[in-house]
Amino acid sequence: MGLKKLVAGNWKMHGLSNDLDEVKAIATAAAVYPAVDVALCVPAILVERAARAVPGFAIGGQDVHHAEKGAHTGCTSALMLLDAGASLTIVGHSERREAQRESDSEVKAKAEAALSVGLGVILCVGESLEVRDGGGAVAAVMQQLDGSLPDDIDGEAELAVAYEPIWAIGTGKIPTESEISEMHAAIRARLRERYGDAGSGIRILYGGSVKSSNAAEIFAIRDVDGALVGGASLKNQDFVPIVAAAAAVSGK
Ligand code: PGA
Repeated sequence: MGLKKLVAGNWKMHGLSNDLDEVKAIATAAAVYPAVDVALCVPAILVERAARAVPGFAIGGQDVHHAEKGAHTGCTSALMLLDAGASLTIVGHSERREAQRESDSEVKAKAEAALSVGLGVILCVGESLEVRDGGGAVAAVMQQLDGSLPDDIDGEAELAVAYEPIWAIGTGKIPTESEISEMHAAIRARLRERYGDAGSGIRILYGGSVKSSNAAEIFAIRDVDGALVGGASLKNQDFVPIVAAAAAVSGK
């Protein structure tokens, strides 16, 4: 039996008050699939309203600062997200690694800060097209993992890893089944090396152009324990079929 699948939406910089109806529609529809964990990671400013709108449904942030508090204008601490009603957060998304120049060590500090207050963490890794074409994808992702995985995962909060090849994000391109399976197996092996048996319980999500039309194939791949979904998570009618595909693979 595989791990329970997690399907998390990443709304990125999308979402206004009006979109809370979409959050409600997604939460209601997702409740039909208890065999799958479902979450929506929304902009920080929407977290509190989203969490209030859908009690019991997992609302997450998309980033946290690594410090507890202090002189960090414009940033959000892990405790602030938790206080607003989030139960998890993404860290190390490639868009932030690139645009905000986040390093592996910063991502690690963010993951540790979030876990320490009890927020679940989806830690993103993934290679560029150049690295993939040069044959170095697995090595690059292992290096990212080595630099960004938290030291300690003994707390209550759950760590998940999302493998998101940068070239697959928002492009409609996805890796082949064997590329996904090779990478997820390598990530699993690294997690076991790093955390022992606990490494087998960490969910490894695939992300990058996941849609209802490809979700079933992706979920059927060994060591794919769910998905991080960007564009297709914004609308109930696009997102819920992905949840349904995860449920179908889980036999429910
Ligand atoms: P996408 O984004 O599903 O729109 O490709 C995924 C992500 O960036 O998390």
